[in-house]
Amino acid sequence: MSGIKPEPGWYKDAIIYEVHVKSFLDSNRDGWGDFPGLTAKLDYLQKLGITTLWLLPFTDSPLKDDGYDIRDYYKVYPSYGTMEEFQVFLSEAHKRGLRVITELVMNHTSNTHPWFVSASSSRSSPFRDYYVWSDTPDRYKGTRIIFSDTEKSNWTWEPKTRQYYWHRFFHSQPDLNFDNPKVQDELLTVVKFWFSLGVDGLRCDAVPYLFEREGTNCENLPETHTFIKRLRAEIDREFPDRMLLAEANQWPQDVLPYFGEGDGDEFHMAYHFPLMPRLFIAIAQGDRKPITDILQQTPAIPANCQWAIFLRNHDELTLEMVTDQERDYLWTTYAEDPRMRLNLGIRRRLAPLMGNDRRKIDLMHSLLLTLPGTPILYYGDEIGMGDNVHLGDRNGVRTPMQWSFDRNGGFSTADPSDLYAPPIQNPVYGYQVVNVETQIRYPTSPLNVLRQMIEVRQSSHVFGRGAMTVLHPKNRHVFACLREMGDEVVMVINNLSDRTESVLLDLSRFRGYTPVELFSQTPFPVLERAHFHFTVSPYGYFWLALRPPAFSVRRRKRTGR
Ligand code: GLC
Repeated sequence: MSGIKPEPGWYKDAIIYEVHVKSFLDSNRDGWGDFPGLTAKLDYLQKLGITTLWLLPFTDSPLKDDGYDIRDYYKVYPSYGTMEEFQVFLSEAHKRGLRVITELVMNHTSNTHPWFVSASSSRSSPFRDYYVWSDTPDRYKGTRIIFSDTEKSNWTWEPKTRQYYWHRFFHSQPDLNFDNPKVQDELLTVVKFWFSLGVDGLRCDAVPYLFEREGTNCENLPETHTFIKRLRAEIDREFPDRMLLAEANQWPQDVLPYFGEGDGDEFHMAYHFPLMPRLFIAIAQGDRKPITDILQQTPAIPANCQWAIFLRNHDELTLEMVTDQERDYLWTTYAEDPRMRLNLGIRRRLAPLMGNDRRKIDLMHSLLLTLPGTPILYYGDEIGMGDNVHLGDRNGVRTPMQWSFDRNGGFSTADPSDLYAPPIQNPVYGYQVVNVETQIRYPTSPLNVLRQMIEVRQSSHVFGRGAMTVLHPKNRHVFACLREMGDEVVMVINNLSDRTESVLLDLSRFRGYTPVELFSQTPFPVLERAHFHFTVSPYGYFWLALRPPAFSVRRRKRTGR
């Protein structure tokens, strides 16, 4: 029996939890997390209050890019389990009312995918035209290299058939040729396969790069939009109520077309990449300007669409959508050790980035859960897990989930040397101190505080669907805003600085209203004057429902107080 009911726009009220099957729980002692393990932890996730899981790639792959290099779109990677085990997981998630988003890697395959194996074996292979070939490495010169630390060119020489092939990521990930209608059809078949199994959404990887055209930067081309419109139309026809999320690491005005502009006929959701680093600048500088600037530059999106917002994820904290100056600032502030840097980003988790300062971690979660959009949490950040710069690439932020202080952090009973990666073991972030079992046991743990924040957020649609008005008090250390839907108003006040701040807010619109602190339901004094003065502790935050006079009277009568 499924606890999922069709619900238009469900993704607007969602709280998404990003998780790697590999990293969550190993049920068969082979050192790798698997679907039965993940299924066993669904109750934990349900209690945390999240509504939707986003799974990193789990289909067959040589894992040169942790599964984003797909060898078979239709087969579960053996260490993660079987297709049957995936289906059990999906139906158990649905039973608990949890939706599931999986990955759709369209731009490229692994070079071990049978299409590429054939394509690269002979120029007359029927799959030759599934990929992009050239006699010279000089085409599409205006295209940036994304994995700049490891790749020197977007072209790699294929000696057997004596041509170069095109790739936007690792050279082990040849780009598919979307100009070939057969490629488009193949990918639509993949989409329909996963939607037929019952997944609720697809996170579409690397969307801006599907097509190549000379004289452009090969990103965001009109042909991409034509294809996405086709994809969306087919989904709407056959699978209403499903969701497509775009990974387009671009400026907000360049992401807007991915929503389909006026008519919302492309993606339902897209990440807000430029907001994320600005939250980190704002909290480091104790100044709201980076946040208010980017919100101001964020255009309105179609009514059926939604931003996906996040603090950290499985990749480096990407610094592509910042100025050179901002990037230097972030690098010096958050990545003093060069090993913390990768490509144009920082490979660290939330807690270490915040210097393990509980006040800052909670404040970042307060921002994440109250800014417009659907929040995405990254597994392990709910307990403040650390990272490991000694592991290559982005593996340092993909270590085993820390469940308890038992062997391997409770992730696996295999020999420690058999684990896919060592769990974090150091005096500050090691599993002996940072783990779920411990944090469940005291009410002020990071886990329990976040759980409470999620519960409050989920008690109303105002955070996921309401309008936002930024307030502009003189004190720039404070970021305050109103979230409003119908006659419901919530005011959020965040102190970005390390000192107690006092802030004078113009609340003339709400004269006579009572602010009610949402975590404790404590009423504050009635707003009697046009301006109201709040004092906020270092990195403190308030979420206050503004209740009109009539509301308090009604409530008093009902409760008899
Ligand atoms: C996306 C993924 C990243 C991956 C890349 C290539 O950016 O988030 O992890 O390496 O696509 O598939």
